[in-house]
Amino acid sequence: MRWLLLLLIPFFIWQKVYKPEEVKQDGITLKQAAPFPLGASVAVKLLLGDSLYRQTVEREFSSLTSENALKMNRVHPAPDRYDWSGGDSIINFAHQTGKRMHGHTLVWHRSIPKWVESFQGDSLAWENLLKSHIQTVVKHYKGKVRSWDVVNEAIDNDGSLRKTIWSDHLGSDYVARCYQYAHEADPNALLFYNDFGQENNPLKATAIKAMLVDLKQRGIPIHGVGLQSHITIYHSNSKYRAGLKEMTSLGLLVHISELDIRLNRKKTKEFIPSIGMLEQQEEKYKDIVEIYKDVVPVKQRYGITIWNVGDKDSYVSDNCKCSDAPLPFDTNYKKKLAYKGLIEGLRE
Ligand code: G3I
Repeated sequence: MRWLLLLLIPFFIWQKVYKPEEVKQDGITLKQAAPFPLGASVAVKLLLGDSLYRQTVEREFSSLTSENALKMNRVHPAPDRYDWSGGDSIINFAHQTGKRMHGHTLVWHRSIPKWVESFQGDSLAWENLLKSHIQTVVKHYKGKVRSWDVVNEAIDNDGSLRKTIWSDHLGSDYVARCYQYAHEADPNALLFYNDFGQENNPLKATAIKAMLVDLKQRGIPIHGVGLQSHITIYHSNSKYRAGLKEMTSLGLLVHISELDIRLNRKKTKEFIPSIGMLEQQEEKYKDIVEIYKDVVPVKQRYGITIWNVGDKDSYVSDNCKCSDAPLPFDTNYKKKLAYKGLIEGLRE
């Protein structure tokens, strides 16, 4: 009898937790429900190799961000070699399916190729390296990529300029020059500053705002700000609202650029979300969309981008060496309650 119960309990949990995909939405998709662009970041391997992934992306989203394909280590793997294959795959798909393309990211302190880490040269040589990287990539995709995360995560958690390979070699005003270089290469592209933690750390939000106000006042071509928004179901709505308001007050376009909502607070290896957690996730996705609609005026809404599509595609598990389920689709691209929350929040 006991063994029968032991067999039945996991089955019951599976039914309860993974089967609420009978989440049916009278046929409406995310992009149809959204009054602004609704995006996903996409991985090249999945886009090319998994037809269900590709179909889900095509059906649900109106904007795409390259998750990794346009990072410096991927697109510029050797000093005199650019690899356009990944970026081209995503951008061609975006064009064939009528989606907006957002390029991520030209300048970051992570995902830097080895040759840059070991580069030797004076400040002029470093300046040329970065300028030529930015301009080669932006020119290659001129007219095809609508917007770029030019600089990513330049501000540290204490509000200071993050000490990175770029600030070390190029000085504290390198951020401004990155925007000028990108603008020269494609004057029609919209240029964003992207960072995380504005919704959680007022000190950092204030510092980001001060940097962007300064850039604007100096006439540096910057058009938008991205709040990554890697949050949990426990995140306070009022804190999120306050961070979003702070960024919106700049008058720039506002992009929730990397949204995902984690469940596994303790980062345990084995983790089965309870139905209650999945309901909280549904509520949190809905809350974030509603806060965005409430705080960001229509003309400043660049949209909301989810950081990949299905739970198995998310960077979260790799990152925390744990298991989680932060996205609106499950591992088989079935709609979760989180999807329902998004639709409810998006609908006017
Ligand atoms: O594709 C290779 C695979 O061939 C290789 O076997 C494997 C071995 O480690 O690595 C695979 O590449 C990994 C790649 O993700 C694809 O899974 C890289 O090691 C890994 O570093 C990379 O992580 C990405 C991370 O940025 C660093 O670039 C994540 O996918 C990506 O989601 C994450 O995204 C960042 C945003 O750019 C900026 N904001 C934070 C966000 C989360 O960290």
